[in-house]
Amino acid sequence: MKIGRVTISDRASTGVYPDRSGPEIEAVLRGILSEAQFHAEIVPDEREAICAALRRFTDAVGCDLVVTTGGTGITPRDVTPEATRSVLDRELPGFGEAMRMGSFAKVKTAILSRAIAGTRGRSLILNLPGKPSAVRECLEILAPALTEALALLREGEAHVCAPT
Ligand code: MTE
Repeated sequence: MKIGRVTISDRASTGVYPDRSGPEIEAVLRGILSEAQFHAEIVPDEREAICAALRRFTDAVGCDLVVTTGGTGITPRDVTPEATRSVLDRELPGFGEAMRMGSFAKVKTAILSRAIAGTRGRSLILNLPGKPSAVRECLEILAPALTEALALLREGEAHVCAPT
């Protein structure tokens, strides 16, 4: 299992503060997906840089899963969902809906995230908000569907979804 993690932040990409969200993706996913090999990148909130990182991890590296963190909000620099949508073949609206709905019970600002998800070839691309705590909260909500989606993309129609 190859996983790409992309931290999208002007400040983390220029070293103004350390990236804590990217390592948090890795820490949470190591508990959910066994035998994962991680590839990491930090890019600024620039549409082209985000698209390039997503294409590199899916097409060149061959990642099964690419998870982004940051840039999903409503400030002018937040362009992660737009960049992601432009490289997707198919959108999976339920991922964004579930993380907002699941987080909202605890964090009322969760609905300020416009995070999306979808497929590009056999890769799954997933946006997460930028805060490390949000990364953990959202991945824990999505974990059952995430493992099923990865199995479906890997095995196709041979995979039978487990009841959850
Ligand atoms: N979701 C969860 N689970 N926990 C959070 O603390 N923060 C919200 C939201 N989603 C949050 C969350 C806030 S305050 C913002 S502004 C948006 O995510 C967008 O964050 P981003 O621009 O860093 O991606």
